[in-house]
Amino acid sequence: MRGVEADAVALASSARPGATCTVRAWHGGLMSPHASPSRGLPSGGPSPAHSRSRAVWVVAVVVSLLVAAAGVTFYLTRASAQPSAQPSPTPSPTATPVPAERVDPPAVLDPTSVENLEIHQESTADTGDARSVSTVAIPGEHSLARAFGRFVDGTTQAYESAIDPDAVGNELNVGWDLVLAQGDVLGVHASTYAFTGGANGDVGSQTFYTDLPRATTTWSSDLLTADGRKQAAEWAGAALAAEGLGFSEPVPSSEDTFRDVRLGPDGAATLVFSPGLVSARADGELAVRLEPDATRSVLSAVGKQLAEVAASGAPFIGIAPPPAEEPPVAAQPPASPDAPDCSVLRCIALTFDDGPGKYTSQLLDTLAEKQARATFFLVGRSVQANPDLVRREVAEGHAVGNHTWSHPDLSKLGTDQISQELQSTADAVEAASGVRPTLVRPPYGATSDTVTSVLSQRNEPAILWNVDTEDWKNKDSAMTSERALAGARPGAILLMHDIHASTVSAVPGIVDSLRAAGYTLVTVPDLLGPDLVGGHKYFNR
Ligand code: NI
Repeated sequence: MRGVEADAVALASSARPGATCTVRAWHGGLMSPHASPSRGLPSGGPSPAHSRSRAVWVVAVVVSLLVAAAGVTFYLTRASAQPSAQPSPTPSPTATPVPAERVDPPAVLDPTSVENLEIHQESTADTGDARSVSTVAIPGEHSLARAFGRFVDGTTQAYESAIDPDAVGNELNVGWDLVLAQGDVLGVHASTYAFTGGANGDVGSQTFYTDLPRATTTWSSDLLTADGRKQAAEWAGAALAAEGLGFSEPVPSSEDTFRDVRLGPDGAATLVFSPGLVSARADGELAVRLEPDATRSVLSAVGKQLAEVAASGAPFIGIAPPPAEEPPVAAQPPASPDAPDCSVLRCIALTFDDGPGKYTSQLLDTLAEKQARATFFLVGRSVQANPDLVRREVAEGHAVGNHTWSHPDLSKLGTDQISQELQSTADAVEAASGVRPTLVRPPYGATSDTVTSVLSQRNEPAILWNVDTEDWKNKDSAMTSERALAGARPGAILLMHDIHASTVSAVPGIVDSLRAAGYTLVTVPDLLGPDLVGGHKYFNR
């Protein structure tokens, strides 16, 4: 039987595309361009029992140190004042300054600054093995999708080999941010969080640079030559040591160390390290900036070419929209302005999670054609990338709810992280559609006392479900329909996902069959009414 220790080794020893799993802390950074992990503070303080005589001793020691320092200064001054004197017998340690310094981790770009990105979201609805994988691709360009896919595959394999299938709370979350959009280059940073038992999860990271016209994607560590990595690792170690950070052993020059290299507008590269990679986990995410000259000396040919683009100041060339244009927002007004009376009618609510995605527009066409209303629980990151689809959902009379920014298991997060997941998503939905969502569907249906208390404070109810079509698992239209119809009863809330083609193809049949059975399809607000209690869980009417 494999223990926790062996699991950590299995994860850490994964091949290149795997997660960087020397790290054991969720730093809340999967979603957050702004969050910076807090540094661990040493506990304890001066004892109130310090005696007066000890204070006298401290003063005495300080004074003698000052005297000694003055003597050394006098000696050095005298030595340097002699014009033809021999070199100082003890050369100053600052004679060769390290061309690197610790800086704050660089900010990421606003994802809406690049239009027409293709976003893929995959997730399970299983709290025992909760997975949410969000990736990004460039329509018509395959190298980024391939590279990101390899990274996800490696991360997933490492996760699968580490999980104990009998344990609860396993979680894999993959997200991304944009870190460069300049000239013809797009930089994407992928981040992973894997929890497979123990006290903390594993955080991993990988940055890619895609040259659009050449359709090539470079992994971050390939920006440096092998010798360059050795040199940069040394400089990074010195820069961290100067601030009392880092481990006692040298920073390794392996590819793992250089999974996240950012290229700046001034020709400087910044090395970003996940918590625990090059220093104690409590030190949080760390970054070291290499001066432009130092950067040039360690870059590979492709690294130099990409760094030049990053420093060019040239605007991003942009991404052409995919050939198949989204149909325009339907002009028809909402089908029925009055809410149906669910105390009389056989009402049922179809809910679609994890979008908007690439099948959402097809689903909206179906619902418009059938004049059926549904409720969409939206992932903030996808909302920000596809605001038009959210606008269309609202314009066509559907309800929208909050499904968090990065689809984490909220039951593992603290108050601030939960709030930020909800707040950023509500902001994105409001910016896209003009409507601020108040219904929350926690990913995987996972809640905790902390989640409940945050929701109470925000006055937002948790909307769960009582019919699970398991569409994410079966990915089969016939099975999804069968489960939907078998579970249907008045007042039910059905769980589906509009990120699966099989689900979206099943919807016309589901709508027809439910209507044939006398059901009225309504939104969740229409089903449950206006007087919902913040923090309360609703599974059905
Ligand atoms: Ni979900």
